[in-house]
Amino acid sequence: MKKILIAGNWKMNLNVSEASLLTKRLQDRIALHKDIEVVLIPSMLDLQPISLQIDRRKFKLAAQNAYHKDSGAFTGEVSFSMLRDLVSYCLIGHSERRHIFNETLEEVQEKVAASFRNGITPILCVGETKTERINKETNQVLEDQMQSALANITASEIESLVVAYEPVWAIGTGDFATPDQAVAAVRTIRQSIASLYGNAVSKNVRVLYGGSVNPDIASDFLKAEGVDGLLVGGASLNYAQFTDIVDAAFEVHHDLEKR
Ligand code: 13P
Repeated sequence: MKKILIAGNWKMNLNVSEASLLTKRLQDRIALHKDIEVVLIPSMLDLQPISLQIDRRKFKLAAQNAYHKDSGAFTGEVSFSMLRDLVSYCLIGHSERRHIFNETLEEVQEKVAASFRNGITPILCVGETKTERINKETNQVLEDQMQSALANITASEIESLVVAYEPVWAIGTGDFATPDQAVAAVRTIRQSIASLYGNAVSKNVRVLYGGSVNPDIASDFLKAEGVDGLLVGGASLNYAQFTDIVDAAFEVHHDLEKR
């Protein structure tokens, strides 16, 4: 059985002491669960101190972004090779990077390759804008984002991949997708992987939902067919809400096991 993954993307929030306080509160409240992975995604600055603070059996770390070259004259950038041994995962192609920082499909592709090359599992973020959904382009957008990101990756690398379906219109808006919309998008994402690497590989890839997730709706998405976890933004900055979301994952997992 695949492990459920609950990830909290803190985005550009919290200084080092605020991040440490949130980590302490989460560590005090969240129990160890062998089938659920909880991933914290603090700012680049907070990663190192938090890595020393966390119980690594309880939490894994992810970076929010990295640069695809391993080293060199790239002022202001941090490479995947620098993040080796510090993080297990890295977000790649988050909609804020694609839309605010104009990250291209080619850059996302290079980052996915660099991430695997450095032993860091990508959490590849894909999703359509409101206009694309209204124009019924959602499937095409997801296919383009998936196919271009995964060019040149081996089947064994792909099996560890995590994909996050984050509709752009649902991020930070309070306007989340319905579980049915998420199921349909996740199906398209898996078909896209299957067309490149076959059905067996596609089934093993974990696909998350993200976009205005809060404790009230977490279970609905965790029970949705094909959804293996959640990528949480705003609610992950609130220890009580994030803990409730992790608890929801514990409950859903417990119910699935009883079946
Ligand atoms: P919100 O949960 O704040 O909508 O953010 C989602 C997100 O972008 C997580 O990466």
